[in-house]
Amino acid sequence: MAELTGQVAVVTGAARGIGAAIARRLAAMGATVAITARDEARLNEVAREIESSGGKAETAAFDLLDPAAITRFAESIQKRYGRCDILVNNAGVGFIGSPLHQMPPKDWDTVLNTNLRGPYLMIRAFAPIMIEGSKQGRAGHIVNISSLAGHNPLKNGAAYAASKWGLNGLTYSVAEELREYGIRVSAVAPGSVNTGFNVARGSSDKRLQPDDIASVVAMLVTQAPQSFVSEVLMRPTMKP
Ligand SMILES: NC(=O)c1ccc[n+]([C@@H]2O[C@H](COP(=O)([O-])OP(=O)(O)OC[C@H]3O[C@@H](n4cnc5c(N)ncnc54)[C@H](OP(=O)(O)O)[C@@H]3O)[C@@H](O)[C@H]2O)c1
Repeated sequence: MAELTGQVAVVTGAARGIGAAIARRLAAMGATVAITARDEARLNEVAREIESSGGKAETAAFDLLDPAAITRFAESIQKRYGRCDILVNNAGVGFIGSPLHQMPPKDWDTVLNTNLRGPYLMIRAFAPIMIEGSKQGRAGHIVNISSLAGHNPLKNGAAYAASKWGLNGLTYSVAEELREYGIRVSAVAPGSVNTGFNVARGSSDKRLQPDDIASVVAMLVTQAPQSFVSEVLMRPTMKP
C-alpha cells in the first residue's frame, strides 16, 4: 500500500508549476488530491493526467481572494470525505519588477491577499477539519510554500518579500497553535524554480525544478509522527 493511501490532500495553485508537481506526487503516493486554482481547464488537465496514472483527483476552480468560495470548498471536502490530512498552501503571485514606491495599491493588495491572506483563509477553513480528525487519532499537516525571498531582501519585489516574510511568521506561529492537536505546520522556502512564475527570465535547467519541491513536501508529510520539520530552505546547486 502506498504511504498516503486513504488520505485526502488539498493543494492550492495546482493548475501548473510547483502546485501541479506537488499534486502529482501526493497522488502517486496514494492520496486523493483536491486541487484548486482559478483556471478550470488547466486544473482538469492536471486531474486527467493524475487519473491516467492511476491516481485520484478532484478539482475546484475558485479565486483564493474569495472567502465564501473557500468556505464552500472546505464544506464540500468535509461532506465528501469527512477529513483533510494534508493542506498545501502553494498558490502565489509575484508582481516582481519595480520599486515599491511605484507599485499601485491594487497590485500590493493582490500580492498580499493571494500569498498571505489566502493561506490564512485556507487554514481558517481546514484546520477545524484537521482538529476533528486529530480527535480520531489522525495527524494533519499544513505545508506553506514560502520562498527564500521570505528570508532575504528582494530588490524590486518588496511586496512579494513582505508576503513571504509574513507567511513564515504565520507558519511558525500557527505551528505553535496546532501542535497540541498533533497537527504539523511547515514551510518550504525555495530559491528560483523553473516555472512560468519566472517566465520573464526564460527557462533554465540550473534552477530548481517543480519536482524538487514536490520531493521535499513528500518528505515532510511522511515524517514519523513524533518528528516535525518546521522549514526547509532550498537552493539550486548551480547559480542560475
Ligand atoms: N517559481 C519560483 O521561482 C518560486 C520560488 C520560490 C517560491 N515560489 C512559490 O511557489 C508557489 C508556486 O509558484 P509557481 O512557480 O508554481 O507559480 P505559477 O506557475 O505561476 O503557479 C501559481 C499557481 O497559483 C494559482 N493562483 C494564483 N493566484 C491565484 C488566486 N487568486 N486564486 C487561486 N489560485 C491562484 C495559479 O492558478 P490560476 O492562475 O489558474 O489561479 C497557479 O496554479 C508560489 O507561492 C510562489 O511564490 C516560487
